[in-house]
Amino acid sequence: MVLAYSSGAMAKSNKQWLRRHVTDHYVRKAREQGYRSRAAYKLLELDEKEKLLRPGAIVVDLGAAPGSWSQVAAARTRPGGKVIAVDLLEIAPISGVTVLKGDFRDVKLLEALEGRRADVILSDVLPNLSGIPNVDQARASDGVFVLKAFQGEAFDEVLQRLKHDFGKVSVRKPEASRGESRETYVVGRNPRKMDPLQAPQKTGVSL
Ligand SMILES: C[S@@+](CC[C@H](N)C(=O)[O-])C[C@H]1O[C@@H](n2cnc3c(N)ncnc32)[C@H](O)[C@@H]1O
Repeated sequence: MVLAYSSGAMAKSNKQWLRRHVTDHYVRKAREQGYRSRAAYKLLELDEKEKLLRPGAIVVDLGAAPGSWSQVAAARTRPGGKVIAVDLLEIAPISGVTVLKGDFRDVKLLEALEGRRADVILSDVLPNLSGIPNVDQARASDGVFVLKAFQGEAFDEVLQRLKHDFGKVSVRKPEASRGESRETYVVGRNPRKMDPLQAPQKTGVSL
């Protein structure tokens, strides 16, 4: 029997193989290293490159279930750090992490922050423009915001919005996210001062 592949079909199957290979590698590694999902390696790489997390930092993790980013954040902010994890889904307890169940736009983050400001806001939620969190509370001089965004789906608008809110914006594609081809992460730092007349915006969480 002769099997004939078009170059298009071959490219597609190579891509599928690569996707499975990368995914399996990180799934295995996560199991071995005790992370709840392979997503941990995306944050670990982002942190290596962007230096997001430090001991003592206050981190808000939006869309945190099952909790691997919070595991990483809790470990890297010890000692003295604080991690608040928010998700619509149940998150099994993680040492050093306060879990809030609900929509990130509704939960009582201010209470959980106990009057302090977040140093880092992580969002692994599938974004849309109306769901971009109000980042006002990351506006301490070195506040950092990390947002998942997909190339193609309103990506330019998301980028423009972050460039408006932050002095420095970079786009990262972690190795562990290679499988999900259009997924990228946008990192905003050096928050700009918000015009008090424009804030608070009705676009997302009020922290
Ligand atoms: C890709 S998963 C997050 C994985 C997580 N970073 C980890 O490392 O385990 C995205 C999560 O966003 C949550 N999510 C989506 N919309 C949400 C919302 N409006 N409020 C809170 N969580 C939301 C989903 O329930 C889902 O668990």
